[in-house]
Amino acid sequence: MKANDCEVIILGAGGDLTKRLLLPALCNLGAAGLLPDSFSLVGVARTDYTSEQFRDYLKTNLDQFVSDKDSKVFGASLLQKTQFVSGDLTDPKTYAALKACLDPKRNHIFYMAVPPQFFLKIIEQLGAAGLTQETNNHSRRVIIEKPFGHDLDSAKKLNSDILKILQEHQIYRIDHYLGKETVQNLLAFRFANGIFEPIWNRRYVDHVQITVAESLGVELRGNYYETAGALRDMIPNHIFQLLSYVGMEPPISLDADAVRDEKSKLLRAIQELKPEDVIRYAIRGQYKEYRSSPDVNPKSNVETFVAMRLLIDNWRWAGVPFYIRTGKRLPLRATEIAIQFKTPPAIMFKETQVEDLSPNLLVIHVQPEEGISLRFGAKVPGPVVKLGDVNMKFQYKDYFGSRPGTGYETLLYDCMMGDSTLFQRADMVESGWRVVEPILDVWSALPPRDFPNYASKTWGPHEANELMERDGRKWRNILS
Ligand code: BG6
Repeated sequence: MKANDCEVIILGAGGDLTKRLLLPALCNLGAAGLLPDSFSLVGVARTDYTSEQFRDYLKTNLDQFVSDKDSKVFGASLLQKTQFVSGDLTDPKTYAALKACLDPKRNHIFYMAVPPQFFLKIIEQLGAAGLTQETNNHSRRVIIEKPFGHDLDSAKKLNSDILKILQEHQIYRIDHYLGKETVQNLLAFRFANGIFEPIWNRRYVDHVQITVAESLGVELRGNYYETAGALRDMIPNHIFQLLSYVGMEPPISLDADAVRDEKSKLLRAIQELKPEDVIRYAIRGQYKEYRSSPDVNPKSNVETFVAMRLLIDNWRWAGVPFYIRTGKRLPLRATEIAIQFKTPPAIMFKETQVEDLSPNLLVIHVQPEEGISLRFGAKVPGPVVKLGDVNMKFQYKDYFGSRPGTGYETLLYDCMMGDSTLFQRADMVESGWRVVEPILDVWSALPPRDFPNYASKTWGPHEANELMERDGRKWRNILS
């Protein structure tokens, strides 16, 4: 179904996000026949371009970042109706010029492709120019990128300041992890199948591991990363989104608020670490070359790796640890959720050569591979009783083919349709910060003494392994 009529206005259209992700995503949507015929794009940025120069700029990016043929063809036609407004994003004149080129009788989506310090300033300007007022069924929606706030207080303040201008239903706080098909599939996997849900709880699950490993380092983003670090950059947003889908209760429907209520409940149930537990259960690391990256303080104490153990205080998960780890310059790029089930009693194998039984393991592969695998034990053929681990594996591409995608397609489409299921509500953002806040506090009060503490292409500092070993567990070897 084609999305509802709309004009998308990208504020900060001269940056990386537009050329690498938003433009390709819009082209892919257009090529799939999902954009309305009237769809149009307006870019706003400081660059001193005319609309024509902006189109030339986008054309170069189209050639570089859009690979699918149909998407390219759609892109070429989209560019013909693309306009550009040049101006300072804090100057009211820019918004007067923007207003002049928008049709008030259409729906507008304003996309904040700008650094976070501009979010509120731009929304205030949009409000002052009358651009956020919804009239005669014409919607005015604002998509806000992460990071949403810097800690709990700043996130609360940003929410309340924005809510002076916009209503919650107009705000789309984006988390691009929710655009990933495998993440969206978690709901279907858990609740559209009869066999998993009965064992999805503390009676059967030993623990859960969530890994978001990146092989790249901070590259040219030192400026931003120095103000963020791995904890802020990945945990309260991307990883907590994964966690909430794995842990939530079944929603009563697929309505945006029904789903978000359940996710929010799960986030609220995550136990906050007491200051004395932070050192034990939250591990930080920094890779060896980080301090010599561009725009990074040569004495920086910013972490590029985090591992932690969280507990969830509800009936389903009480006592089941959720171990999460994320980091840059790890041995490979892989995001996955591994659910390890309890090991069965090995009594009947006592008299055999079998020493241990391996626990069953269900792995949801989010990226780069997309699929689900289940590990179980099988008898090795032959007269002697021996067991071996085998894997049943489902890969998306084997069943549904692969489509060109940036991960932003569904999110943009949903926003056009007014469906906010995959976007963060104010309370969810705040719950995320609530959990990381005590860790931020302890880490800033006690600067690390051993940074940098892990070599590139390793799985972080040894304390990350000790975190598991203390509990008699170990991180899954993702290479295998
Ligand atoms: C971004 C972070 O939100 O997510 C980056 O700011 C990180 O530091 C990126 O590299 C990871 O996204 P993906 O989709 O490549 O896993």
